[in-house]
Parts: sequence; structure tokens; C-alpha cells
Amino acid sequence: MPQGPFEIKPLAGSLGAEIAGLDLARPLPEGAAARIREALTRHLVIFFRGQDLTPEQHLAFSRLFGPLSRVPYVKHMAEYPDIIAVLKEADEQKISTFGNAWHSDFSFLEEPPMGSVLYARETPSHGGDTLWANMYEAYEALSDGMKRLLGPLRAMHSGKPYGQGGIPKDLRTSRSIAIERGNPEADRETAHPIVRLHPESGRKALFVNPIYTTRLEGMSEAESRPLLDVLYRHCSRPEFTCRFRWAKGSLAVWDNRCTLHYAVNDYDGQRRLMHRTTIAGERPLAAAG
Ligand code: SIN
Repeated sequence: MPQGPFEIKPLAGSLGAEIAGLDLARPLPEGAAARIREALTRHLVIFFRGQDLTPEQHLAFSRLFGPLSRVPYVKHMAEYPDIIAVLKEADEQKISTFGNAWHSDFSFLEEPPMGSVLYARETPSHGGDTLWANMYEAYEALSDGMKRLLGPLRAMHSGKPYGQGGIPKDLRTSRSIAIERGNPEADRETAHPIVRLHPESGRKALFVNPIYTTRLEGMSEAESRPLLDVLYRHCSRPEFTCRFRWAKGSLAVWDNRCTLHYAVNDYDGQRRLMHRTTIAGERPLAAAG
């Protein structure tokens, strides 16, 4: 039976929309793929609920947004090398989890991922939500003076959680997601514009985040810290965010070029298993003027 019309409902004032009335395991109706992509460009992160997808169907849906890529330092599933399993077991308590600070995925790569598609396979009865923040609105809300200051600047990004500095020694990490640590290659820095031009919307977005940004280009970490801290506090203002409550079968697609996200680690004692695919991106463009 063909699928009927579907609805796109905003989730919060700044970003995020839920798309209802589509079964992603079945062929999409005529024009639906284009409407879904437009919804992503307009709402920056889109959500579907109640999906029952095999890994192959998750992969096929992800490819609607572009070619897939494999991120470094995180082990992909042996049977599905384009999927990573983001897992925390019920007995893993008081540990640091994947994505538990504001970030844009793997922003330290020369060509950071355009987006990700996260599918919930097992969710806690409460907790384990994910938040996203709108980096267009964060940029637009800055004063003219700050916009002028940031316009020509670049920031350095590195894969520091996977490098030799790594995460603090007293913080335990999950055994359930195989992440490589201590690789000196991950400490190599890449410079990206702080104000990034989105190639599809033509809008300017802030592009720094506390997980991967190390400093401003040409400055020390200590010199950079005050300005970066101001930007991080600004980027995560509640007005720029939306929060998604996962259930088994929920799926999110987000655009890493104009959002940050944060996986809330508040579900000790419960298992959470998500499958994530990553969509290839391009070198961030500087926004002229
Ligand atoms: C991620 O940062 O990709 C993980 C998000 C999540 O587990 O909610």
C-alpha cells in the first residue's frame, strides 16, 4: 500500500522538527526525499518516531543525505563498517560517555562530516536525551563588534579525546564503545573558520565547540580560553536549543555544519544502544564580509 501524506511539525522555536506519517523501512512516496532534505535544511535537525529498521534500511535512508563516511578512532561494527554502535551498558556507572559535551561531530577533520543519522535501538525508561543548538542563531545574536572580531578568525581543532592528552586520567570511559585513545596523530590541529558559511542556506554559523576546538589560530590556549568560553556559554543558551526524548525506534538526522549537540549522560543503571551513520562533508567555507 502506498504511503500517505506526511506532516512536519517544529519541535522548538529555534530548531528541530518531527516528521510523522512515514515508514522509513518502505519505499518513500514521490517527492518525499526532497521534502525531507528541505526539512533538514530548514529545521537543522529532524526526527522520526516508531521506525523498525534493519541496519541495511538505516544505511539506505542515511544515503538520501549524501555519501557515507567512516570517522577515525571509533571502531565501527564488524558486520556494518558504516555504522558505529553508541552503547552504554547498565552496569557502566560514573563513566564519561560518547558525545557528552557540546560538539559538532569530528570537527577536527579537514573535511568534517556534513551530518549524522542516529537510530535508537534500546533506550532507558527515562534520561538519555540529546540536545541540539542552532549555530546560525547563535551567530546572528552576537553584537556587531563581536561579529567583526570573529569574521576573519580561524580556530584550531584537534581530536584531543583520542590523543595523548586525552581525557582526564581519573575519568573512566565506557568499555562498550571501542574508542582508540592516546594516538599522537589525533593531536594534530586543523584550522577552520570560526564563522562558517553554509553552502546550501548561504547563512553564517558559529563553528567552535568545547570537545574539539583547542585555541584560536596564532594564539596560545591560555590566550584563547576567555573568548572561547564566552562563545561556548553563548552557543548553549536555552533559546538556541531543542531537546529530544528518545524511544526505541526514534531516528534523528542533523546537520553538523550549523548545529552543536550534547548527549545527556543521566541514565546510570540502564542500557542505551544507538546506531549512528555519518554523512561525508566538505572543507568548511569562510564567510566573507
Ligand atoms: C553523538 O554525539 O553522536 C552521540 C549522540 C547521542 O548518543 O545521543
